[in-house]
Order: sequence, then C-alpha cells, then structure tokens
Amino acid sequence: SVEFVERFIDQLAFHKMNTFPWHLTADQGWRLEIRGRPELTRVGAWRGEGEGRYGGSYSQEEVRRVVRYASDRFVTIVPEIEMPGHSQAALAAYPGLSCTGGPFAVSTSWGVHSEILCAGREETFDFLEGVLGEVLELFPGEFIHCGGDEVPKDRWRACPRCQARMRAEGLANEEELQRWFTTRIGRFLESKGRRLVGWDEILDGGLPPGATVMSWRGTAGAVRAANAGHDTVVTPTSHCYFDHPPAASEFRHSFPAPVLDVARVLSFDPIPEGLGPQAAAHVLGAQGNLWTEFMPTEERVLVMAFPRLAALAEVLWSPVDGRGGFEGRWLIHRRRLAAAGIRYFVPEPAGAGGIAPFLDRARIELATTDPEGRIAYTLDGSAPGPDSTAWTGAIEVDRTTVLQAVQLTPDGTASRTLRAEFRRVALRRADSPGETAPGLRCERYRGAWTALPDFGVLEPEETSIVHEIGIPAGVAGDDFGLRFTGWLEVPAGGIHRFVLASDDGSRLTIGDQIVAEADGLHARQEVEGSLALEAGCHPIRVEFFERGEVESLELRVEAPGYAGPVPAEWLRH
Ligand code: ACM
Ligand code: ZN
Repeated sequence: SVEFVERFIDQLAFHKMNTFPWHLTADQGWRLEIRGRPELTRVGAWRGEGEGRYGGSYSQEEVRRVVRYASDRFVTIVPEIEMPGHSQAALAAYPGLSCTGGPFAVSTSWGVHSEILCAGREETFDFLEGVLGEVLELFPGEFIHCGGDEVPKDRWRACPRCQARMRAEGLANEEELQRWFTTRIGRFLESKGRRLVGWDEILDGGLPPGATVMSWRGTAGAVRAANAGHDTVVTPTSHCYFDHPPAASEFRHSFPAPVLDVARVLSFDPIPEGLGPQAAAHVLGAQGNLWTEFMPTEERVLVMAFPRLAALAEVLWSPVDGRGGFEGRWLIHRRRLAAAGIRYFVPEPAGAGGIAPFLDRARIELATTDPEGRIAYTLDGSAPGPDSTAWTGAIEVDRTTVLQAVQLTPDGTASRTLRAEFRRVALRRADSPGETAPGLRCERYRGAWTALPDFGVLEPEETSIVHEIGIPAGVAGDDFGLRFTGWLEVPAGGIHRFVLASDDGSRLTIGDQIVAEADGLHARQEVEGSLALEAGCHPIRVEFFERGEVESLELRVEAPGYAGPVPAEWLRH
C-alpha cells in the first residue's frame, strides 16, 4: 500500500538511507500508471486467472504523493523501468513491441524469461520515450534506473529486425546490440538532463557512454565501471540481497537462497578491492535489495529488512576501522523500531523442528538464540504468544505431543513459531533380504530436469556398486541424475536422524517412507528426517538430480552410538 511505502521511507530516513530504489516493472507485473499507455496497467498489472489472480498498480497521483513524502524526508526516489528484459508484463500489454509479435501473458513464475523488447523496431523506442517521458514528470531525481539485467538474447538472434539493426549499426553481436540499446536510452535521458543507471549486465557488450553501473553479480562490474571513470553503486547478492533468508531457520519459509545474516552485512566493504582513491570516488554508495514481489505481507517485508538494513546503514556511514559494537547497539535500537510499530527479525528458539519420533520418552530441549530472548510455548495446539507458558527448562513427554514455541524480545516482538511434533512410534521391523553384498547399486542418468523425475521409467546410462552416498568420481557434465538403491543395515536399534544435503533436488526413502526431501532447483540445502529402525536391514533409496554447475550430495546420520556420514559398512545390496 502507499501508506506502507511511506512508512518504509520514514525508516529509510531514520537510518540515513537517502535513496529509495523503486522497482516498478518486471515480467510478473507492471506497477506504474502510464497515461499514454493504459494497457500497461489494465493488462500488464495482473497475472494469473480466477482465484489466484494477483496484481495492482500505483496511480500517478499516488506516486506524486510518495515522491513528495520522500522529498520532505530528504529521500530521493530512483524509479526502475526494466528494459529490454524482464519486460513480459509490458509485452503482454503491447505484444507488438516484441520480436515475434506475441501473444504473451503476464508471467506467473519467477526467473529469467526470453520475451524481451525488440531492438529492431522503432516502435520500441517510441514506447520507451513515451513511458520515460511520464516517468521524468513524476520523478524529479537525477537518476532513472533502466534495468538491463538478465537479458536472454535468443529472440534478438532470431529476429530479422534486430539482425538488420545490428548490420546497420555495425554491431558484432547481440551483447553489443544491448549496449547500443542502452546508449540510445541514455542519450534520451541526458537530453532531458537526467542520468541512466543500469544493472551490471549493461557492461557485457562494452560500457554505454555516461551510464552508471549498479553492480549486483559481485562487485567486478563496479570495479570495471569505476576504473573506466563511470559512477557505480554496489549491491552484490552476497551482502546486499535482503530477500535471501536472514538465518538458516528461515530456509523453509523463503525461496532457496544462501543465508545472508547481519554479520555478513557488517562484513561488507562498499569500496571493492582493486580501486585506487580516484576510482573509489566513483562508488556513489551501496544499496540493499528487497524484491517484495516474493513477500506476501507487509510484515514480512519489514522482517526481511530489519535488522539488516540497519546494519547496511552502519556499514555505509562508518569508516571501515570505526565499525564494531553494532550487535550491542542493535539491542537498544530495536526498541525504537518496536515503539514505531516496525517488526524486525527475531530467530526462532533453537530446538528440534518438524517431526521428532521417539520410542518411550522424549526429552524436549529448547534454547534462546537472542541475547535478551525468552521463550513461550504451548503443548495443546494453540498458537503461542507472550502470555503462553514460559520455558524454564527441558521437559519430558511419553505420548505424541505437538510443541509450538516462540522467542520474544523485551519489547514483545516475536519470532516465527517453531513447531515440532514429538511422535511416539514403534521400531520399523528389519527385513530379511537373505544373502547381501557390500555397497549400494548406483544408477546414473542423463537429463536436464527441474524436479526429480521418476527414475524407475528411465534407462540408466551406467550402473555401478558404490560404497558411499555422494556424487561418484567421474560423473562429469552439468545435467545428470543418480539413484542409489539397496539395503541400509543398521547395527543398533533406535531413532535414526538423517540429514540430506544437496544442490539440486534430492529425496531419501526408507521402506515406503520419504524421510527427507528437497526437490526442485536450488542452491545447497539441508533437510532432515528421523525414523525408528530395528537393528538389521531396511530398504533404502536416495534419488538426486543436478542441473547446472555447482553440485553436492551428502547423507549424514545420527544413530545410537554413531554420528557422521552413513558408513560404508551399513550399505548392502
Ligand atoms: C537482479 O537481481 N536481477 C538485478
Ligand atoms: Zn527483434
């Protein structure tokens, strides 16, 4: 809501953040009223059908109000209008601006999409100059962000108009065509007294004259820009993407991405290595990124922003050797946020989550993870809050019990609820497989999947016997799948807790029960599950697929008398 955006701008001003980047267009929606192009918001602001239809946009009147609100607080808004990529919503409204002519729908999925603005058609530039003309009327700041990130060039490669443009302009390839595109838009903005800023991909085909580079794929783009005398803003994913989870416990609530905690933000040096003093002066500042389209509620946006935004402000306003003590000051500062009604991230209490099976009695242990935190909990299925039972120490249960617990800070701000089911179970009876031999059968498959396929119906490329669960040596190439099958022979009966780690998808099945699963494309992720196993043999299956470059697969176990990688002696076939 406009009110929320204003409340957020209050916080920016409070934290001495003097610029608000407002990313208003993407494949998944066009959020800014353009009077000369009404279809942008009539069509382009909405995605999906029926119940799931989602969208909305800001009217120009609302935008003027926000710009004035920000200006009164000495915050400048930099609007972002994505081009030539991340434009599918615009193309859904005006398919004639694409290479193929469409038709297109506003995207209902995240990621990078192929449909981009055609660089060969003059209509594209008429459109953009019309849109930017209205943007300039609304936003008086010096900089206009014109996107430029993640632009697949397939459409341009296949488009006679784009190819004709390349010939006419003497451009060697499609990267240079993007440079030409950006240069043309940059000149338009310059003619109006403004400056273009774009994501670091605008460097890929050579630096467009006068462009300011926003470096997000690390800081190499910033170094290149600054050394060439261009201004730059640093916002590497490694330190500045606040839509990445703030703690490992948040993994299951967000899209899979590496943890970006406060300590990491505090370790950020906004002046990248490799810049002399003259080039360093071209670093205008750093930016925190929060793609709110991922975030279903305003509360969620705040929890993702704080305390990391406060930490980024600290980094930006303190000399490198003048930092330190943030953690202690944060304990005081957060009371100010709470008084202003601003939620911030509090980690869950430490303790078992998910399903924790036990045989006769379970001992439940929880620990605070915040220096001033206290824990409140329920065992009756009700939502825990400040008035719930205070945690004073470990408790024991002898029947299936659902524990729900929150960690609270002194001002009453609560973490998400940690939920764990302590489930009384019987041992899974061991099977009698007869004669077995050491190792598991490992089948290798070739394919480019986005989720685990049904390996059972596919033809393996190769089958071997392996003695550990992992990616076997010699499995080369980017896109492949593995299936391990055989017996897990456990030496002692009792609860076995398995931790499965992989990049990309994986699944552990014992008997007919899925014990742990993290399917889909993702960075390295750990999932866990527990099972009560009798001593002896149990059918085991581990499935895994890899797409792209980084690859990992590990299975660890905590069992009576053992903790570590699943030992070779336990694997039989
Ligand atoms: C970006 O995150 N695609 C700039
Ligand atoms: Zn084209």
